[in-house]
Amino acid sequence: MSVAVIGAGIAGISAARHLHEAGISVDIFDKSRGSGGRMSSKRTEQGEFDVGTQYFTARNSAFRAAVEHWQEQGWVATWQPRLYRIDEQGLHRSDDDQPRYVGTPRMTALSRGLIGDIPLHSATRIAELQQVEAGWLLVDTDAQTYGPYQQVIVATPAPQAVPLLESAPALANAARQAQMEPGWAVSVGFDVPLAIDLDAAFVRCGPLDWVCANHSKPGRSEAANWVLQSTPAWANDHLDTPAQEVAEHLVDALAKALGITLPATRFLHAHRWLYARPGEDREWGALAAPELNLYACGDWCQSGRLEGAWLSGREAAQVLLGKR
Ligand code: FAD
Ligand code: NAI
Repeated sequence: MSVAVIGAGIAGISAARHLHEAGISVDIFDKSRGSGGRMSSKRTEQGEFDVGTQYFTARNSAFRAAVEHWQEQGWVATWQPRLYRIDEQGLHRSDDDQPRYVGTPRMTALSRGLIGDIPLHSATRIAELQQVEAGWLLVDTDAQTYGPYQQVIVATPAPQAVPLLESAPALANAARQAQMEPGWAVSVGFDVPLAIDLDAAFVRCGPLDWVCANHSKPGRSEAANWVLQSTPAWANDHLDTPAQEVAEHLVDALAKALGITLPATRFLHAHRWLYARPGEDREWGALAAPELNLYACGDWCQSGRLEGAWLSGREAAQVLLGKR
């Protein structure tokens, strides 16, 4: 059996790895140059920044077992930030005893480790699926074709899955229904460390949602690098604001939230995630049209967290293998 997985985020990689371990031949396709999708890291001369997934938690027992294995492989480690909540009243220390995990030395270490020797066709944006006698042909945006594959798993964010699922109207409709919310992520490198004993904070006022000292995570460079994430509502209102303006605005908001004067910046970049997170959790697990040999998975089928995406990918593999 040959399977194509479209999307090298954690959902697609989870599906591909589970199939690979069952002895199935799998190829992964992604429009980006690397793997990881929203579990993404930016490498600069000023050190790295985790611009997507910040950390992840593990609640499901199968996922917890997988995370233990990843720790043994050295792909992830626990992160114990000095954690705060910031609201109109100020800063409140907000530690809890929940384990939080990060990829080491950057988030993408996990996607790289999990892909291992599974073939990845990067920089390949799939535009169309064509049904032929032997299965499915994948057609990319340069009109190059791949396959045929007997089975296809679409593991892209919901809006990007819709055109690929057109042959299975029920799946395409579900993907259409699964709205996704945007978010801005600003990477800012300061000249010197901030004069504050805080590694990360959930922000509950103003445009910010989350701020984090990237260098507080294990394995990162010591550069004073921070990642600032906007709320979905603020991103919705500023979808077309120039990136530089967004970056400056969110850095100002950081200064206000922390109540300190910030040092000079050495690096500043804003990334717009059009499909940052699903608007709501679902209990779909994965979507299947077995009569067409077509499947879909992703965080939008479960929950907008790394764990939800991994579970959804595992479910797609299990349904395809007839284990569910
Ligand atoms: P994705 O990671 O989006 O993967 C889909 C892949 O499909 C992408 O690589 C994309 O390039 C590819 N693709 C799309 N269309 C095509 C096409 N036509 N052809 C080929 N390839 C295509 N979760 C947490 O648990 N903790 C956090 O702290 C956290 N923070 C976050 C912060 C931000 C800023 C964002 C954006 C997300 C965050 N999340 C967090 C959510 C988490 O990152 C996602 O739930 C998870 O990574 C989704 O994985 P996925 O595989 O479903 O999708
Ligand atoms: P989690 O359990 O640490 O956080 C879940 C939510 O609980 C947080 O958003 C926060 O509101 C609250 N919370 C948790 N611990 C807290 C504490 N000590 N003090 C105050 N509030 C606390 O992690 P989980 O459930 O795995 O979620 C992962 C994170 O990913 C969340 O923070 C979520 O907002 C974030 N996320 C961000 C996205 C984005 O685009 N910025 C997209 C998807 C998820």
